[in-house]
Amino acid sequence: MSSIPLVAVHGYPLDRRLWDPLAARARNGALGGITSLFAPDLRGRGNSARPAVALHAMSLLADDVAEEIGTALPKDAPFLLAGLSMGGYVCFELLKRHGARFRGRLRGLALFDTKATSDDDAGRAKRKEAIEAIRKDGIGAALAAMLPKLLAPGAGGNAAEDVARRMILSTPPATAMADLAGLAVRDEGFEVLAAWDRPLLVAVGEEDAITPPSDAEAMTAVATRAPWVKLLTVPGAGHLVPLEQPDEAAAGLIALAEAAGRFTSPTPR
Ligand code: MLT
Repeated sequence: MSSIPLVAVHGYPLDRRLWDPLAARARNGALGGITSLFAPDLRGRGNSARPAVALHAMSLLADDVAEEIGTALPKDAPFLLAGLSMGGYVCFELLKRHGARFRGRLRGLALFDTKATSDDDAGRAKRKEAIEAIRKDGIGAALAAMLPKLLAPGAGGNAAEDVARRMILSTPPATAMADLAGLAVRDEGFEVLAAWDRPLLVAVGEEDAITPPSDAEAMTAVATRAPWVKLLTVPGAGHLVPLEQPDEAAAGLIALAEAAGRFTSPTPR
């Protein structure tokens, strides 16, 4: 494939800046066939024109992204889709709800530091506690809970940590609480992955404390219809591979774009 845009969806409680190192590479011609990167801010933060609502269901966020693809990308243009963590859960919903409409255009999927399981009761209880902590103490509670888990040990004070801190602190508390409420009730993604029949990149930081490599392995294991699957385990990275190790993330995406070029003809459903 000579030239293809990448649509990239950020995680919680982050924003589009997560993808800046990759967007810069795309602009400079250093991301292989990926010549542009469209990374929207999810509702309630950054440049999004959409307000936060009480609960950010993954389906709602997926509908938002689908609509933005319609306006941001040239009509009928093929594209690749990527999501990190919550962004990955949004990708699952996007494929479920809009996959048929984008079928002729969506050529490959990249999942970074995410998982296909849903929350169990203990996980939902933790989300509730996190919501209450933000209600009481503001976004500083999210910073205290998340920052130590986001990056590989030893990242203290580095540039990736600084960007992560800035993203969290600029997330409005109501947005973070709505994200958490939506995360608690999300569906599994395994069925979507089992039906996915295009190239798939699954990338994970070797030291990801939130969605460890075993989650990445579980996702690749079910993707038996995909014609090309790459599991990329990245040393020296935690939960934010695109920020912590952008060269490794870029190499994975370049390989995905190449594979997308080899598997372009739509298979009938
Ligand atoms: C994220 O990074 O988007 C969240 O940590 C995902 C989650 O908590 O499940």
